[in-house]
Amino acid sequence: MDSFILTGKEFSSLTQSNQSRVSILRAIEGHVVIEDCLRVLKRFPDDCVDLIHTSPPYNIDKPYEESVDDNATHNEYRAFLNDAIHEFKRVLKPGGSIFWQTGYTQASDARSAGILPIDIISYPLFVNGDIAMNLWDRIIWRYFGGHAFKRKFTNKHETIMWYVKPGAEPFFDVDEVREKAKEYDKRNNFWGRNPGNVWEIDRIAAGSTEQTSHIAVFPELLSEKIIRACSRPGDLILDPFSGSGTVPKVARSLSRKWVGIETSRTYAEQSSVRIGFQQPSELDSLASEKIKRLAFQNRKTTLATSEIASTLKLWASETILDPVVDTFSRDVSSALDGQDTARASKKAAWEKYDRLINGQLSADAVVDADSLLLRSYKNRHMLNGVSRYKSALEILQRFVSICSDSDERLRSEVTRIAQQEPSSFDVVDGQITLKATDRRINVGEFDETRTLKEKMERSGETLQGRLSM
Ligand SMILES: C[S@@+](CC[C@H](N)C(=O)[O-])C[C@H]1O[C@@H](n2cnc3c(N)ncnc32)[C@H](O)[C@@H]1O
Repeated sequence: MDSFILTGKEFSSLTQSNQSRVSILRAIEGHVVIEDCLRVLKRFPDDCVDLIHTSPPYNIDKPYEESVDDNATHNEYRAFLNDAIHEFKRVLKPGGSIFWQTGYTQASDARSAGILPIDIISYPLFVNGDIAMNLWDRIIWRYFGGHAFKRKFTNKHETIMWYVKPGAEPFFDVDEVREKAKEYDKRNNFWGRNPGNVWEIDRIAAGSTEQTSHIAVFPELLSEKIIRACSRPGDLILDPFSGSGTVPKVARSLSRKWVGIETSRTYAEQSSVRIGFQQPSELDSLASEKIKRLAFQNRKTTLATSEIASTLKLWASETILDPVVDTFSRDVSSALDGQDTARASKKAAWEKYDRLINGQLSADAVVDADSLLLRSYKNRHMLNGVSRYKSALEILQRFVSICSDSDERLRSEVTRIAQQEPSSFDVVDGQITLKATDRRINVGEFDETRTLKEKMERSGETLQGRLSM
């Protein structure tokens, strides 16, 4: 698996052939298509997408790479939004959701000198027409930083409008996104508070592992909250303006199917590298982090698969989880037994696991697993200690059991994990090389990814091959 990109050329040959819309969709799943989203979406069947999280270009003359002009007249921009929203409504399943993340637009020919919020301009386009969407919620993303204004209050928020296609109830699993309370309160849900619709999340700082050369990267946490709460594993997630690939990356990490569409080749290539640092599930993400740390000791080197498997096996034989599972189950059941005494046990459990999970120098294997999972899953920071401990323990148990399997099975698991993360590992003839120990994309050296791209083109992966997947 070299690249997650489908070029415009490949997409064109796909659409020229007599493939059904369903098989075209299947062929582009798991890819960022370098193309105008209107062209690509027209090839999607009706009612096929479970969730869209996206942010359109704002038409504020942003210097996007090789992209469409971000400086249209106001009418042209409105017409573009209208066409795009028409397609989003059509391709969503009944009950499917779109999270439409927007700020302000401006147009040189606009009559008003005032601000033009895109959520207001686009509201009639969503709620009118053949398919009248329901506005389900309106989330405020309140961020820190940004450019200071001199003549008015500095902008510190964007809105995320949550629209639902009529015909079914939208999916929402509050337990996936519960939040920790600042302090223990007996009225709170044991597993965490119901989340509110004002999200305070930092923008992407320079030098962060989420940074790319893109000028409008979403924080991964935004997308993670939406995808966790509003879709199930296996659902199809779409970002028709995928930019640096945040939504595809997060969707993949949560075992969802995904499609990204982006006009800029540079951004699509960078997103492919970014997605290549990601595993397609929480279990595989933990496995990858353990392989890097235990077998490679986080060094860029080459090891035989059998050597990696033996290291994991030894570690698993020393990781005895039964007593941990017993203690955790006892703490939880006494906290939830409904008796008056449970109040004290609930407080004690909350405080114990908050302390444990936030401890700096814990030798607890579960806390260690949680810290490795935090590298890929930003939403863990929002959970309370007892929820984090529960999920890390479940994932760790599954991984220990895989490591205790037969040598042959473990070797093939290790190979599979390495192949799924092409930006970190190379796999050749029973040997695995850890080639990157940091997920930062070095924009200055980006030519490396062009080489990767050209390699894919040279290898001539056939469309027929993709269609038969
Ligand atoms: C606001 S940015 C999205 C940023 C993205 N959410 C991220 O996290 O990086 C909008 C993106 O849409 C792309 N774009 C503009 N017009 C497009 C079109 N017609 N089809 C597909 N992508 C387009 C731009 O190149 C830009 O990368």
